[in-house]
Amino acid sequence: MAPEFVCGQGALDLAGRYAHNLGMRHLLLVTDPGVRAVGWAEAVGESLTEAGVSFTIYDSVSPNPRAGEVMAGAEVYWSEGCNGIVAVGGGSPMDCAKGIGIVSVSGRDILSFEGVDRVPLPPPPLICVPTTAGTSADISQFAIIGDEEGRRKVAIISKALVPDVSLLDPEPLTTMPRDLTVDSGIDALTHAIEAYVSNASSPITDLHALESIRLTSKAMPAVLENPDDLNLRFSTLLASLHAGLAFSNASVGAVHAMAHALGGVYDLAHGRCNALLLEYVIEANYEAASIRYDRIGAILGQGQDEWMSPAGVVAAFRRSLGISGTLSTLGVTRDMIPALAERAYVDPCLATNPRDLSREEIEEIYERAL
Ligand SMILES: [Fe+2]
Repeated sequence: MAPEFVCGQGALDLAGRYAHNLGMRHLLLVTDPGVRAVGWAEAVGESLTEAGVSFTIYDSVSPNPRAGEVMAGAEVYWSEGCNGIVAVGGGSPMDCAKGIGIVSVSGRDILSFEGVDRVPLPPPPLICVPTTAGTSADISQFAIIGDEEGRRKVAIISKALVPDVSLLDPEPLTTMPRDLTVDSGIDALTHAIEAYVSNASSPITDLHALESIRLTSKAMPAVLENPDDLNLRFSTLLASLHAGLAFSNASVGAVHAMAHALGGVYDLAHGRCNALLLEYVIEANYEAASIRYDRIGAILGQGQDEWMSPAGVVAAFRRSLGISGTLSTLGVTRDMIPALAERAYVDPCLATNPRDLSREEIEEIYERAL
């Protein structure tokens, strides 16, 4: 599965034309206050106005979008008489927009769609304009929504969640702060690695996963030195696109299952959780997919003087991007590990991990990452 995607500088300006072609008369523009502040929602709005498409902005979206925000967005969608959605932003507005879309046609609580293939009705058309390079929500059949009451993140996975169009423009990436560039880049790397070792991988998803890892290994360190370089930003966007095509079809694994649990309990940045778990999950999984992990290590560690294990290469790479510390640094405490493992164990992403992990083994991985 893949949406139509248009890549390159100026892709953002096609939003109006695509909205018009998809028959949108009045749409809901889902974004967040941060993206609005740097002008990208406005830029997309101009393109819509030029094409004669009117819109209502909905920007009540937190960094980890919550079920209540999705339901409130659906109320606005109905009351404003919308017949399509444009999402402008990172994973949070895009996931929220996907949630609003499926709620808008069913009227049901967003949390009732949890799991795989549980969205019965097609949502209204959705155009995504990503402003980060990593989440790939603009490509994928995934939406992750926070259940505040249960302090957990709910994964909704369905072909109905693949957007209609993704407009991949490198320019919005230039306004990302350094931390967001790093966290979203590591998220893309984690998608590619988990898709490559997934037990649902295929020769097609492998191609995308390996190309994504190659692009990330070159572009990520360079873009931190030259954050305004549009060619480098574009390489990171391509890395994210390739990772999205890989993981949307092959799914992910234990890193994501465990990061979702952390994000639900502690409301932490998703990419940062991945970064601090990845090397320990690789150690735990290694024997089940050693040839594949060795290949990942060889690509990511190219140019290194001495041999390192794949887990060592990944650890060195994240440190080279400035990610140090452990889960404790983020405020995670040992007493929460059983509850975290409980949540990770039932996350649908665990089904495609290359080896079956027990609750106890998941607890041990959290321990090592603490
Ligand atoms: Fe992710």
